[in-house]
Formats: sequence, C-alpha cells, structure tokens
Amino acid sequence: MNPQLLFFIGKGGVGKSTTSALTSIYLASRPHKTLLVSMDPAHNQRDIFEQDFSEKPKRVSETLMVKEVNTDFWIEKYLKETTNQIKETYKYESAFNLQNYFNVLQFSPGLEEYALLLAFEDTLKKYGDQDFIVFDMAPTALTLRFFSLPFITLIWLEELLTLRSQIYKKKEIISKIKIAGREIEQDRVKAKLESLICNYEHLQQQFLSETTKVNLVMNNDKLSFSEAYRIRQKLADISIAIDRIVINKLQQDESTAEIEKEFKEQKIGKFALAPNGLSGYAVLTEYIEANKKAFQET
Ligand SMILES: Nc1ncnc2c1ncn2[C@@H]1O[C@H](COP(=O)(O)OP(=O)(O)OP(=O)(O)O)[C@@H](O)[C@H]1O
Ligand SMILES: [Mg+2]
Repeated sequence: MNPQLLFFIGKGGVGKSTTSALTSIYLASRPHKTLLVSMDPAHNQRDIFEQDFSEKPKRVSETLMVKEVNTDFWIEKYLKETTNQIKETYKYESAFNLQNYFNVLQFSPGLEEYALLLAFEDTLKKYGDQDFIVFDMAPTALTLRFFSLPFITLIWLEELLTLRSQIYKKKEIISKIKIAGREIEQDRVKAKLESLICNYEHLQQQFLSETTKVNLVMNNDKLSFSEAYRIRQKLADISIAIDRIVINKLQQDESTAEIEKEFKEQKIGKFALAPNGLSGYAVLTEYIEANKKAFQET
C-alpha cells in the first residue's frame, strides 16, 4: 500500500515544525512506520529533536526516521542533468552557447521549489514502504509555489508540445522533399516533452490523491487567521483541499469558535501551548502523553 502523505503548512512561526514532529512521534508510537521530512531550507527539526539530520534519513526510534532535504544538492543535480540533456539534444548545433545557458540558469527563479519537487519525488520512490511520510514545509510563499509547480509546468509543456509538433510537421515535409523515401529520425525533443508531461501528471495526481492530507497550522490570532484564509483560497485554485486545521499554542479555555465556524469542512486539531517550550525527544513524548486528544484525528 502507498504511504499516507501528511503536509504541515502555514505562516512562518505558527508551529509547523513542532506539530509535524509531535505528529510523527505519535504516529510512530502507534506503531506506524513513519518518515518525517523537513522540506524547509531553513531546517528546524534539528533544534526540536536536539540532534543533527541530513539528506539520508536518521533513525530516531524503532519506527521513526527523520531527514532534512538538502536543496543545494538537488539544485546542482538538476542543473547538471539539464546541461547534459541539452548537450545531447543539440550535439550538432554548434551555435548554441551552453556555458551562457548554464550561467543564466543557475540564477533562475523557481529553482528552490523545483529542487523541493525533485526531493519529494525521490522520497516517494525510496521510502514507499513507510506507512506515513510527514512533510514539514517552509512558510506559505515557497510552499504554495511548490504545490503549484506541477500545474504550471503542465500548462507550459502542453503548449510546447503543440508548438513542437507543428515545427516537426513542417520539418518532415521539407525532409521528404529533400530525401524522398528515407525514414525521418525520431523527434527526441518531442519524446522528452512527452515523458516530462507523464512525470508531472503523476506528481499532480499525487497531490490530489486521497492519501495526501494537508494540515494547515495556525495560531488563534488575526494575522494567522487571514493568512490561513488566503492559503485555503490559493490551494483551492489548484484543486488542493485542506484536510485539517491545526490550532497551535492554545491557552487554557481559549475560544476557537471563529476558526471552527470558518473551517467547517475541515477536521480541527487543538494543540495547547507548552509553557516551557518543546524541544528534546523526552519533552515531546511527555507532551503527547498529556495531550492525547490533539492527535486522535490525525
Ligand atoms: N505548542 C507549543 N507550545 C509552546 N511553544 C511552541 C508550540 N509550538 C511551537 N512552539 C514554539 O514556537 C516557535 C515556532 O515553532 P516552529 O519552529 O515549530 O514553527 P514553524 O511554523 O515551523 O516556523 P518556521 O515558519 O520558522 O519554520 C518555536 O520556538 C517553538 O518551540
Ligand atoms: Mg519550521
């Protein structure tokens, strides 16, 4: 069976890393095989668990592993691969200045979310045996770009494929006139575009799948509320629904009626404020023990 994917998203500082760590420890204690992945280039999990993590998952308990995505590694890998592909495709095209292309590409906007998408794909491929994969995401802006990337890329690719087919048809007519009877070589660019489309469609389906659950973390304050509202709208534009609202840092007896009224279709998880902070595995497990109710709807 495919793993359940849980994304923790929301405004900066609301507690995405803390609540995703707590949820991962809770799930692992059930006991489900769980992998917690930090997808925020400014990693927080090392401070929460009080230990170092890297691209390679580290086992923190029998059923829990934690990894931090190394975005620089994925950006470099992507740049190298595209450069090689271009070299291969345009072998005969000496006018194409590859070094120029590379120099520009490395400063191209969008590389960070692209790196995250590559890391996401790689994680699914390598750790499909897990019961749960929990993604601790970066603050809103980067996360929304990450979720939108397959949708936007698909629009571009479809357009490019149409253009390419038109160009190729013309080329074919000319070649036929020139060298009648000789078979036309396969269009490598078109084949590449088709394989990219297939890949992005797969990613898009993954985001829309029943096994993907988006947890929107917020605090019970005005700014957090407005941002949560905007995130929901932006995700709805790309057909991604929010499964659960996590209201974090709640003080005793605080009313959350306004949030519950606004987010009627979502499950609600309430996480109490820990007066002495939340770091270190022992402190986290103690918190889970004392706040079991918060995790029931995970
Ligand atoms: N329930 C809680 N009780 C007490 N402190 C909390 C709680 N949740 C989070 N915090 C504290 O709030 C701060 C921000 O939490 P955290 O780093 O989890 O947020 P974040 O949303 O991941 O932030 P960023 O957007 O910077 O990644 C941290 O100091 C953390 O210890
Ligand atoms: Mg964080």
